[in-house]
Amino acid sequence: MVFASWDLFTDNAYQAALKAGVMDKQQLEPLKDFLETIRPMPAAFEQKWVKRLHPNNLLPGKTKMALAEQIGEDIRQFQKTSGADRLVVIWCGSTETFSSPQPIHQDIKSFEAGLCSNSPDISPSMIYAYAALKLGVPFINGAPHLTVDIPALTNLAVENHIPIAGKDFKSGQTFMKTLLGPGLKLKLLGLNGWFSTNILGNRDGEVLDDPENFKSKEETKSSVLDRCLQPELYPELYKRYYHKVRIEYYPPRGDAKESWDNLDIFGWLGYPMQIKVNFQCRDSILAAPMALDLVLFMDLAQRCPDLAKMGIQEWLSFYFKGPQVAAGLYPEHDVFIQQMKLKNTLRHLRGEDLITHLGLEYYD
Ligand SMILES: NC(=O)c1ccc[n+]([C@@H]2O[C@H](COP(=O)([O-])OP(=O)(O)OC[C@H]3O[C@@H](n4cnc5c(N)ncnc54)[C@H](O)[C@@H]3O)[C@@H](O)[C@H]2O)c1
Repeated sequence: MVFASWDLFTDNAYQAALKAGVMDKQQLEPLKDFLETIRPMPAAFEQKWVKRLHPNNLLPGKTKMALAEQIGEDIRQFQKTSGADRLVVIWCGSTETFSSPQPIHQDIKSFEAGLCSNSPDISPSMIYAYAALKLGVPFINGAPHLTVDIPALTNLAVENHIPIAGKDFKSGQTFMKTLLGPGLKLKLLGLNGWFSTNILGNRDGEVLDDPENFKSKEETKSSVLDRCLQPELYPELYKRYYHKVRIEYYPPRGDAKESWDNLDIFGWLGYPMQIKVNFQCRDSILAAPMALDLVLFMDLAQRCPDLAKMGIQEWLSFYFKGPQVAAGLYPEHDVFIQQMKLKNTLRHLRGEDLITHLGLEYYD
């Protein structure tokens, strides 16, 4: 695998890794020469989408279409100079401010007109996604905002058989939530409330300190429970729970994020109980291997006509807080069902038996 990136700052990968402080300096040192060769290309950016960062590495470009064309050219150049046979683009950029689908996002003609007229509804991540899809390159969105989850880009992906996936890596607290939620339902334990809070001090935390950026994250973090608990089937247990999610920027912690969850549950005869979860995690140590897995699976998807023609790679929902699905379908959040989808899709591709856990054949 070979790598290239765009970023708002000129720091090369070694400088960026030193600043992020995820890996020890001692562990980075042997990689210094290699990492210094990865210099970010100038970024497509607009301040209103990420107010807390003040960039020094931006692409010039009068229109958003001009920026998309330059990003496309960067991708072509990278393929030429690196000699890579196949490409995947993954958005690991900052969380953009919250936005909802607008008329301009509905079809590719309106979207392209919007790129040319600098529509305020087209965010930088959409510019990268458009540029990648125009070149037939799969695109993954690791952040919570819309990006490829708009009809204009989803249809472009489906029509041209290009894999897309998103949104928002499911790495820490929400992963725990989708482990515990299905467990409560298995035991038919009721839920009165679930309060989740976090402290983190990395650059992601700094961006999410702005309420408009946090709102994007709040949406994906909050959406998972209903699907896991199915209140429509168990109204007396899950119809009235109160769910609150907070993130606080706290610089001393750096990447060593800490999350607390308080669950107010109830059992037989309505007797109340509590569960507390304190996850002292490392944000990037949890997320980075998922990014690598996703890139490899998306590359597999582009080589499998049956997967590529779907556009949206729902079988990868295991990796996301807000799995992207086709219009009219619901996103599956139960991590155990997500894992089964992943395994069975891989088995199906290899022509192997699907996992059913039926077990009757053991006694034949
Ligand atoms: N555990 C995790 O790390 C985790 C989990 C879920 C989701 N995410 C999401 O993944 C994204 C990245 O997280 P991170 O911790 O690596 O953040 P980070 O702040 O360390 O890195 C994001 C980088 O994106 C750059 N950027 C912002 N806008 C850009 C643009 N328009 N073009 C090019 N570069 C741009 C910033 O300069 C920054 O260096 C965030 O949206 C975050 O919410 C991360």
